[in-house]
Amino acid sequence: MGKTATTYVCSSCGTVHKKWAGKCESCGEWNTIREQAVLSAGPKGKTLGAAKGRKVALSSLSESDKPLQRSLFGIDELDRVLGGGLVPASAILVGGDPGIGKSTLLLQAAGAFARKGNKVLYISGEEAASQIRMRAARLNLTDAPVQLAAETNLRDILTTLDAERPALAIIDSIQTMWADHVDSAPGSVSQVRAAAHELTSFAKRRGISVVLVGHVTKDGQIAGPRVVEHMVDTVLYFEGERGHQFRILRAVKNRFGPADEIGVFEMTGAGLQEVANPSALFLSERDKPTSGSVVFAGIEGTRPVLVEIQALVAQSSLASPRRTVVGWDSGRLSMILAVLEARCGIAFGGMDVYLNIAGGIKISEPAADLAVAAALVSARQDHALPPDSVLFGEISLSGALRPTTQAENRLKEAEKLGFSSAFTASRMKTVAKSAMKVHKSGDLAEFIETCFGQIDS
Ligand code: TYD
Ligand code: MG
Repeated sequence: MGKTATTYVCSSCGTVHKKWAGKCESCGEWNTIREQAVLSAGPKGKTLGAAKGRKVALSSLSESDKPLQRSLFGIDELDRVLGGGLVPASAILVGGDPGIGKSTLLLQAAGAFARKGNKVLYISGEEAASQIRMRAARLNLTDAPVQLAAETNLRDILTTLDAERPALAIIDSIQTMWADHVDSAPGSVSQVRAAAHELTSFAKRRGISVVLVGHVTKDGQIAGPRVVEHMVDTVLYFEGERGHQFRILRAVKNRFGPADEIGVFEMTGAGLQEVANPSALFLSERDKPTSGSVVFAGIEGTRPVLVEIQALVAQSSLASPRRTVVGWDSGRLSMILAVLEARCGIAFGGMDVYLNIAGGIKISEPAADLAVAAALVSARQDHALPPDSVLFGEISLSGALRPTTQAENRLKEAEKLGFSSAFTASRMKTVAKSAMKVHKSGDLAEFIETCFGQIDS
């Protein structure tokens, strides 16, 4: 038995530090570093190699395994994000802000899966069984054969899983679970790690799929889901703006399918409804041409999605004008403003700039650069773009427009939704037979000249 030592662990990202600090260097969060007692490796000089272990069996890459048997939930948006349904004995983490709708989504998933004849256990450490039943009534799931338990003791949960052997177990949430062999409070990094490790390894051995729910925490009082991301096969994040009814389920890691796939839902009075055609929804508020508003033809995972990008530019009374971004990267906005100034002579100094991606969706594709630049210039000049046009293309620091992937899919989706023209990079390969009128420009200055004419800086 070694002596105990102390390390410092960030409760947001799980990084281990030698010393306490106010800010975690790894994830940049403040006040998230907590002291943690650990067992040291034992007496110095005594390494693992000293006592021999067992030789492990080795195999070759060419050996053939059985193809993965997947089971569908029957909720298309969820099945697609998982890469085509649930893989048996897999571990999935569903993270998201409190109140975003994780429990609702998973109760619906549990209900749908149980109705297909699978055995499903829903274990909640947050709500009483009666509360879950009330939710089920609201979601019209009362007749679904899901088995409920309100429990936080991990030892009891594992014993129950062993006795029941369900196809799927949902643990809501991992932060409320308590492993009695770990000497710290529920929600701490050590507890969350231990609980996730026990659950995932136990479930793998017994062929049970587990879904762990994890709250994203900003204050660091309880450990965030990032500390267990590496232990699971699939990590999904459930996102959305509080004031909006849209919710986006995004795969950020998937051992059994593509990452970056999204599923779109709408939160209604009777639970989450699938949104099969998100473009129509994200654009529904657009009616007449408005300056500062443009439509970006994006790709989310395997699906084209059209979204509205809105910019507002106003004279600033502040010494350092505001740059406010919702749904896009603020560093990327600064870059585009700099390219507009340096390469096109369009300055935004002395002006407040606001950029918003409508509908509460977050965009990370660089292909949105051109649409963002167009929205900014359109807002500054109070000059609306033709309302029937979409844009896509990446901007490089030289001001050149770079082609993006899947031009055809983007154009097809735009055409389907009634758009008739597109602006993009000249090096973009597009099909000639498309009915869309495609305007191509080599660089940003040329694009601005085509759309807005001469601009005084
Ligand atoms: P919940 O699933 O409890 O969130 P989480 O588990 O991520 O903390 O969702 C709670 C919110 O969803 C709450 O504000 C109420 C709302 N809601 C609806 O709008 N419609 C519904 O049918 C349900 C069940 C919840
Ligand atoms: Mg919940």
